[in-house]
Amino acid sequence: MGLTDPSKRLEAIPPYMFAELERKVAAKKAAGIDVISLGIGDPDTPTYPYIVEAMRDAVADPSTHHYPSNRGRAEFREAFARFYDRRFGVEIDPESEVMPAIGAKECIYNLCFAFLDPEDVALASDPGYPVYTGGPVLAGAEAVLLPLEPELGFAPDLDAIDPLAWSNARLLFLNYPNNPTGAVAPEGLFERVVELARRHDVLVVHDNAYSETTYDGYVAPSFLATPGAKEVGVEVFSLSKGFNMTGWRCAAILGNAEAINTYWRLKTNVDSGLFEAVQLAGVAALDGPREPLAEMNAVYARRRDLVVGALREIGVEVEAPKGTIYVWAPVPAGHTSTTFAELVLEQAAVVVSPGSMYGPSGEGFFRISLTTPDDRIAEAVERMREHLAA
Ligand SMILES: Cc1ncc(COP(=O)(O)O)c(C=O)c1O
Repeated sequence: MGLTDPSKRLEAIPPYMFAELERKVAAKKAAGIDVISLGIGDPDTPTYPYIVEAMRDAVADPSTHHYPSNRGRAEFREAFARFYDRRFGVEIDPESEVMPAIGAKECIYNLCFAFLDPEDVALASDPGYPVYTGGPVLAGAEAVLLPLEPELGFAPDLDAIDPLAWSNARLLFLNYPNNPTGAVAPEGLFERVVELARRHDVLVVHDNAYSETTYDGYVAPSFLATPGAKEVGVEVFSLSKGFNMTGWRCAAILGNAEAINTYWRLKTNVDSGLFEAVQLAGVAALDGPREPLAEMNAVYARRRDLVVGALREIGVEVEAPKGTIYVWAPVPAGHTSTTFAELVLEQAAVVVSPGSMYGPSGEGFFRISLTTPDDRIAEAVERMREHLAA
């Protein structure tokens, strides 16, 4: 073993396959070419002012300067209970059914360490947020992929899951509205998931990162609003996307009290909780007005229409998503996800994400993020129209 060799667990994470694409982007930028990135999903506009003001007050209050408790401040848990009641019609006990997380990413990763042993399985949507597979592998367990089927509205075919995978499974990761496909939860999916989770004793983890970012009148539900969901599952709610707070690391886990307690036991060994000033800013966000979110969604909807319109003009068959900040589109015939992303970069100096970044079932697609200012999106779309029409 060399001095700096990584652990076998880290080595088991598939190699990063897009280094070459990143190298090409860097080379173009170094050559002075104006590259427009539609890759990453990180809101381009600032956190809403009332949240920043609450943070300013909270950070000036010395009571926030100590180690936080992993359970979180009562104000934060109570604000989540109010929000879940008002927004989703879900009753949450602020004492036992909600706890802060340092972002959804932390929460998903640590849930793997709280619940998975070697030989255990986590069932993970494919394509999906990479931590659903990286977390289980780093925990020494196995991720079994659940392909999201376009003809099922990007739901997994739950009846196709191998009985052995069911019997070894301890966690099932789902995410609607979905990154990267932009799909919203197909009717009846959550009910069926609750039924199967009960039958197979699997803890459902619903990643609710995008419920506040929806269009065309669609209102995303909470998984916890499904009858029986709290018996078999938890939901991770992140303030990152809907409230433009990606840098703040503010999220919570809600639902099954025993599962949340197990997550807490793990976390007491790992981190020291979420900065209390951030928790108080989270309270302001959750209790605050809905207008800024509606305005933000109107901006994304406008950008979405621009992107979808331009892609259709160049012959890409694409559906306008009802949620998330992404447009998910099939690559033109004759291309893989990667060769198409390279072509777009070469010809239009625009970065799109190859669908295969999100798992094998993402092959044949590419993802465009809507978190770039209007004028830059318009410019990117214009370049794609000009250079890729053929
Ligand atoms: C589906 C999904 N879950 C979780 C996250 C990360 O959320 P957070 O910023 O709360 O860690 C992202 C970010 O892109 C995401 O797309």
